[in-house]
Formats: sequence, C-alpha cells, structure tokens
Amino acid sequence: MIELKDIDVLFHSDKRVVSAVKDVSIDIQAGEIFGIVGYSGAGKSTLVRTINLLQRPTKGSVQVNGQDMLALSASELRQARKKIGMIFQHFNLMESRTIAENVAFPLKGSSLNKQERAAKVAELLDLVGLRDKSDAYPSQLSGGQKQRVAIARALANDPDILLCDEATSALDPKTTSSILELLRELNQQLNITIVIITHEMNVVKDLCDRVAVMEDGRLLEQGTIVEIFTQPQEALTKEFINTATHLDQELALVIGHESTNRLREQGQLVRLSYVGDTTTQPFITKLVQDYHVQVNILFGHVEILKDIPVGNLFVGITGADQDIKASLFYLEEHGVGIQTLSELIEAQALKEDKI
Ligand SMILES: Nc1ncnc2c1ncn2[C@@H]1O[C@H](COP(=O)(O)OP(=O)(O)O)[C@@H](O)[C@H]1O
Ligand SMILES: [Mg+2]
Repeated sequence: MIELKDIDVLFHSDKRVVSAVKDVSIDIQAGEIFGIVGYSGAGKSTLVRTINLLQRPTKGSVQVNGQDMLALSASELRQARKKIGMIFQHFNLMESRTIAENVAFPLKGSSLNKQERAAKVAELLDLVGLRDKSDAYPSQLSGGQKQRVAIARALANDPDILLCDEATSALDPKTTSSILELLRELNQQLNITIVIITHEMNVVKDLCDRVAVMEDGRLLEQGTIVEIFTQPQEALTKEFINTATHLDQELALVIGHESTNRLREQGQLVRLSYVGDTTTQPFITKLVQDYHVQVNILFGHVEILKDIPVGNLFVGITGADQDIKASLFYLEEHGVGIQTLSELIEAQALKEDKI
C-alpha cells in the first residue's frame, strides 16, 4: 500500500545541511493502522510528508497504491494526493468559513453538483458526529470538535489513506481518546489505511497494529504493538514504553519510599515483566516455598495489548544472597523478564540528562 524505500531527506539551510531522514524504509499494508513514534525533531513529519510528496525525498523511492509517486506528472500527482488525506495538531481550519464550508473546501473542482456536494458534506459531518454544527464557525467549537471537522474535511475525496501528524497533541486525554476511537471506527468502516505520528506511546498503544520508532532521522526499530511493548530492543523504545505505562512515575514513588531502603539493604529490588499466560502468582509462591526468599510486591501493573496481558511488577526479594540468585535464575528460566531497579533508575537518569 505505502512503500517507502531507502528514503533520505536533506535540508540545506544557510550553510548548514540538516539530514532530517536517514535511510528509512517502511512498508505499510492496506487497512493497517501504523504508528510512528519519536521525540520532536526525529524526522517523523518529514518522513510522512514524503508519502504524498509534500516533501520530495533527496534519495529513495515512494510507492503508494502501486504507483511510483516520483514518476507522476504534476496533474497525476494532484489526483493521487486527493486519495491521501491529512490532519494536523492545529486543525488548520478556515476561521471565516462555516463548518460545512470548511468540509466542502476540498470538493472544489470535483464533478459533484451543488446538491450532491451538500449531501456529501452532511454525510461527512454525520460520520464524525457533528451534523448539528454545520452552520457554526470554528471559533465556536472545542478542540476535539475542530479536529473532527478536520477529519471530515480530510475524508471529502474518499481517500484510501489518512495521515495524522500529532493529531491529538493539542487535546486533553479524554478528547484524545474520543478522537482515537473515531479513527478506529473510520479504519473499520471505511477500511482506510491510517498513519499516526506521535511523541506519545500511549496514542499508538491501543490503536495501532504496528509501530516504528524514530530517533535523529533514523528508524530504530519497528514491529507489532505486542512485539514492541514486550520485546523492545532499543533504549529509546524502552523509555517511551516506561513513560506510557507510568513505570517511570511509579519507580520514583517506590524508590522514594523509606520501606524500600530496608529491602534494598537486605536483598534486591527488581522489576519482573511477563507476557501472555505467564502469571507471576504461582512463581512467587514457588520462590517463597522452594527458594526460601521473601517477596514484597511494591507495585504491579497489567496492560492488555490486543488481548494479550503484559504485566510488570516491582518486587523486593530478600533472603540469603545465593537464594536470591537462584530464585532470579528460576524466574528467568520461566520467561519472566528481570531488570534490577538500579538499572531502571540509571536508564531514567540518562533520559533526564537528555531533556
Ligand atoms: N523545511 C525545513 N528546512 C530545514 N530543516 C527542516 C525543515 N523541516 C524540518 N527540518 C529539520 O528536520 C529535522 C526533522 O524535523 P521533523 O520532521 O519536523 O521532525 P518531527 O516531526 O519528528 O518533530 C529537524 O531537525 C528539523 O529542524
Ligand atoms: Mg512533526
């Protein structure tokens, strides 16, 4: 559906050359919801703008719907772009026009007559739940409603693809959820392929089929949501996940608590992570019975990702050194991920340095 191959984008500004995208290849399937996560400046927007050639790549190839985008004439490209809708963080609505006029705008030059256009606009506003706002002006709407208008406008020419560049970044968490829910419905109803750019792992977590992580113009890793959440390979990916699952905050709370000092002196503070059917309950019983250690659960969290439970526990294990070692070995053997909390704290300190 969307095939970006070996994409480089260089910007020449003053005497500097900025390498915004470096050798990135991505393959997005029809009907898929694909997320691209990274901090500001990672190259996400530049990469996604190469899909409709709002940004021409310096090197590489762009195939959309089997078409070589770089080989199209200007008028062919205009046609192809109609099939690729786009929404942004700041909605970009025309303030002096009504909601209906904003949504009708991309239909300028279409073959529809006046009645057909009005019917199309009504249908689009229905789709995003804003039929009654037809005659209102953008300034009369909330942020979430404005983004719904922008979505309706982006769908005016029945695109196959919707590109969402930080579409929820200006919205509060509740409104964000409702917009993400709408995107999910549109994906299912219209079978539209959706590409979501965000700096928040939480946005992609419930919605995307697959996700790619970008840093400094490069694509660090990509995989299904479950793969990325359960087996992240790169430090940056882990950092995004810890933020999304609030493990960062919990770690600070746990570490700051005086009862953990005692546990730290008498044993080990570790994070246990597990996926799928592995529930830690019997393991912990086993540790206490067979390995003669004490296990204190300091924090626990289970996330359901595409029906697969993904769990995290912070525990203090106390007892004799060799018993603690043996018990950690036993857990590892049974597929439980283990990380000492000091490793986690180090990773967090690195992140704070960066910010
Ligand atoms: N038109 C441009 N001219 C010069 N540099 C640009 C331009 N657009 C983006 N950049 C630079 O390219 C890098 C990637 O930017 P961008 O794609 O906007 O990242 P993101 O969307 O991940 O925040 C940044 O260093 C940015 O400053
Ligand atoms: Mg951006």
